[in-house]
Amino acid sequence: MKYHQIDNGLFKKNRKKFMAQMKPQSIAVFNSNDIYPISADSTMPFEQHRDIFYLSGADQEETILVLFPDALDPKHRELLFVRETNEHIAVWEGEKLTKERATEVSGIQTVYWLSDFEKVFFDLMTEAHIIYFNTNEHYRQAVETQTREDRFIQMCRDKFPAHQQAKSNPILQEIRGVKEIEEIDLMQQACTITEKGFRRILQFVRPGVWEYEIEAEYLHEFIRNRSKGFAYTPIIASGNNANVLHYVENNQQCADGDLLLMDVAAEYANYSSDMTRTIPVNGRFMPRQKEVYNAVLRVKNEATKMLVPGTLWADYHKEVGKVMTSELLQLKLLDKADVQNENKAWPAYKKYFMHGTSHHIGLDTHDYGALKTPMKAGMVFTVEPGIYIPEEKMGIRIEDNVVIQEQGEPFNLMRNIPIMAAEIEELMQNG
Ligand code: GLY
Ligand code: MN
Ligand code: MN
Repeated sequence: MKYHQIDNGLFKKNRKKFMAQMKPQSIAVFNSNDIYPISADSTMPFEQHRDIFYLSGADQEETILVLFPDALDPKHRELLFVRETNEHIAVWEGEKLTKERATEVSGIQTVYWLSDFEKVFFDLMTEAHIIYFNTNEHYRQAVETQTREDRFIQMCRDKFPAHQQAKSNPILQEIRGVKEIEEIDLMQQACTITEKGFRRILQFVRPGVWEYEIEAEYLHEFIRNRSKGFAYTPIIASGNNANVLHYVENNQQCADGDLLLMDVAAEYANYSSDMTRTIPVNGRFMPRQKEVYNAVLRVKNEATKMLVPGTLWADYHKEVGKVMTSELLQLKLLDKADVQNENKAWPAYKKYFMHGTSHHIGLDTHDYGALKTPMKAGMVFTVEPGIYIPEEKMGIRIEDNVVIQEQGEPFNLMRNIPIMAAEIEELMQNG
């Protein structure tokens, strides 16, 4: 791992929160992700399943976490199974978790080799009445691949048909949605690495550079600061490419007079940041570009103020829509008739701002977190309004990550990333 080891107190706390919500005589199991194949003998880089990471810190394939708070043997209340390492593996693949390292990383005292799983698990299942399965209930999930977790669930259903089943995911969605201070600190580190990348490219962008050259500059800065790389596929979109919301080709040359929308951010220790900045390729906003830019910035600032305990996500989006509508009227992109005649199910502002304003962020970029109940302190959201005007060859989005506070305005993890048009211009022109 490139990141500094995380204090295992975080994972102990996380397990405690999960176990506090388990029913009596129940057991919960969490699996690592598979290493996904490409073809022949090549594979995708390993990405740990965020739930087992959240509960154990184990960042290795073929790891299983078992939580069984009512186990008769206290040693069996928390167990970690890791792939047995040996000298051959050490030579070919490098360091893997030994039992001692696994304890150090996770704070779990009982660590077994994976080869013992079947026997130990059968024994534990004879004591348990309920098994918690971890299915993916994220509101945007669209997974077609069978995961290691899916295979495990299938195996359990075949072998232990008499056990009752329960769902881990709602518990995880709730507890992962409210961040611990240690998590906020890790997310701050991700945002700070993102800031370094952004400051680097402010010195680099000029007419004639290619979008992929900018992508490379970010990656260079991220990795040299102990990030594994991008938290999500970066969007480096000049001119009208910014009006393709999920533009990821990043293969065009940046032209004088165009704006450049960059939705790009670093991960750190598996935690995401999620930044968007829009800058003028030549270092100076044209008057109309600045007018629209400042409108987006005002919407972002107004939206941010609404992220306080008690706010409902759906109401918030409606309110942000009103603020956006008034800016679009001032920009003369909408007129009064457009608003009076609008379809309430698809309000007029959506012609220019067609995506959501905020999502939870954390171990996943579009993170777990309650969306139907009131917001709470410790939740972390993006704030990312945009105005997209293909007929004017510009698309502008600005995105920050903020933490809801008990009182007052949220705390902006991206407060140090240049955002004012004048500051961006100054840094681009004079360094
Ligand atoms: N970068 C993905 C998003 O903004 O949601
Ligand atoms: Mn983004
Ligand atoms: Mn986002």
